[in-house]
Amino acid sequence: MTSTSVHRPGATGTRFSGPRHLISIRSTPLERLRHILAEARNFTPDQSLRGRTFATLFFEDSTRTRTSFIVAAQQRSATVIELSTASSSLNKGETMIDTAATLAALGVEAVAVRARQAGAAALIARCVPQLCVINAGDGRHEHPTQALADALTVAESFDRPTFDFQNLRVAIVGDIGASRVARSNIALLGSLGAQVTCAGPRTLVPESLASLGCKISWSMDETIADADVIIMLRIQFERYTTTNSTISSPREYRAHFGLTESRARQLNPDAIIMHPGPTNRGLEIDPAVADGALPGVPRSVIRDQVSNGVRVRAALLNDCLAES
Ligand code: CP
Repeated sequence: MTSTSVHRPGATGTRFSGPRHLISIRSTPLERLRHILAEARNFTPDQSLRGRTFATLFFEDSTRTRTSFIVAAQQRSATVIELSTASSSLNKGETMIDTAATLAALGVEAVAVRARQAGAAALIARCVPQLCVINAGDGRHEHPTQALADALTVAESFDRPTFDFQNLRVAIVGDIGASRVARSNIALLGSLGAQVTCAGPRTLVPESLASLGCKISWSMDETIADADVIIMLRIQFERYTTTNSTISSPREYRAHFGLTESRARQLNPDAIIMHPGPTNRGLEIDPAVADGALPGVPRSVIRDQVSNGVRVRAALLNDCLAES
């Protein structure tokens, strides 16, 4: 975070307290994260960002994150710019930094950045200090706003209004090694008191990931048996050169690490099933489990995660652009 004060184009005589980036859960004080969560819980649409300008700067595909940032900014009455990287001057060789600096020169005050490269959001924050930068997912590093949406979903599912997750057991299952969602969730849910265990095949869940602050297991069945929260993750095939280097076969992966209908029927009935999306139906999760269509099976809160994404991003945008 920087304390630089900047002038906002179009806001004559008004100064604000400088960029309050959100680059990672790990680098953000827990007190600030709790404040954003509390504000998200109470969110109702208002005009608090009328006259302020926000842009999405997505260098990698997205449905949920990009759209929920746009909806959130619109629900605060901000002016929203969606930079389409497919038709931008990036294709003429302009750099990510020059693109962000151009947006700042046009009056944009805050950007949500998604990129394939870990560290991209931090780099823009450092090189374009006029902008408040929100990391909307950078490579395998972090996806802090997804973790905030997930924490709000857990809090409301278990009636924990103060975000105290003591005695909650969280199982994260899948491609942990490639997952920025897992890294942010381990940091946030763990800081709020939950016990987090990550499970998956050894090729996707190396023992070294225990250094993130979670337990490691190579048995899905043992891990989910007494879990309160089961977060399923997809295999991020796009981050590997060959399918063979990650799993032996999709059928074998589903048999050992898929949340199948029969596995879901064995779970604690009070547990919740989560997935940040996009899902690979029939691979890491069966369609009826994802859709909550099986009677007596733990509740799927996957759609709540999406809706809560708007609330946490609306709270975050206010926090980032707060007037001094
Ligand atoms: N969860 C998530 O980041 O989804 P998108 O890639 O669709 O934004």
